[in-house]
Amino acid sequence: MCRSGLFNPVEERGKKNLPELQSNRKLLMKILEKVKYLLRFFYHKQVQINFPIPILRQYIDYKWHLPEGYKICSPDANVDLKAWADLLNLDGQFGQWTSEKVKSDIVSQMITPDAASLMFFKNHLVGCSSSIDQSSPKCKLGIGMWLMINPSHRGKRKIVHALTFRSLAIFAMLNYDKVVAFTDAYRLPAIYFYLSNGCLPEYDSLYSFIQWWRIKKRLKPALERAKSHKSNWRNNGAV
Ligand SMILES: CC(C)(COP(=O)(O)OP(=O)(O)OC[C@H]1O[C@@H](n2cnc3c(N)ncnc32)[C@H](O)[C@@H]1OP(=O)(O)O)[C@@H](O)C(=O)NCCC(=O)NCCS
Repeated sequence: MCRSGLFNPVEERGKKNLPELQSNRKLLMKILEKVKYLLRFFYHKQVQINFPIPILRQYIDYKWHLPEGYKICSPDANVDLKAWADLLNLDGQFGQWTSEKVKSDIVSQMITPDAASLMFFKNHLVGCSSSIDQSSPKCKLGIGMWLMINPSHRGKRKIVHALTFRSLAIFAMLNYDKVVAFTDAYRLPAIYFYLSNGCLPEYDSLYSFIQWWRIKKRLKPALERAKSHKSNWRNNGAV
């Protein structure tokens, strides 16, 4: 039977070209991925910090000794998402947080309840940290996220120490290959804390060499002070 009366050349041409279009699209995506990879080789805005697994291992089941009035715990089902969002909003540079965003971007990403930590002072939420899994078939990778301390509770080493290492120790416990965090190069208090506690700069793009050179130059006096403090402490038999 002749169906020439129903023949629609545009539709037929579209049908015939569909596989071709799909394979062109795939090729284009592959090229875009390669371009992105290449750009990433030259430039990445944030710096990457490596948390060596042997350091994290020390904090598995660690008993945190906090200043009086402070308490650290994992979020549970009754967690106050609004208080968490308000805390993250104090930074101003972490984007706009709401209870829903905390739930979708943090709570639902946690691999176990201990993958996040909340610091309370007399029942008020004053600090938080969390982590996510970004593993690939080749590498079990954990990432530290959203470390934040209310400005009136900063400058107490034990607080930042507990918040940072408690949420990452879980990756050492689960035998992850690598644990990292990303941060802005201007966040010197955070970077100073990481570097003075054995964490290492990752040189993950050409630009990162410049960034780390600048950061180390700015932090040199503080890092040297921290180092001599530690060695005096050891020489006095405190360890
Ligand atoms: C990062 C953060 C948790 C650290 O908290 P903290 O260590 O309790 O308190 P501070 O921010 O006051 O930093 C204090 C330490 O940083 C050092 N520091 C601060 N500014 C510094 C600078 N410009 N250069 C060198 N060192 C600096 C201080 O010497 C101090 O170290 P010390 O205790 O050994 O003397 C806190 O600053 C914060 O919540 N910042 C906003 C969010 C953020 O940046 N999160 C990290 C994202 S990865």
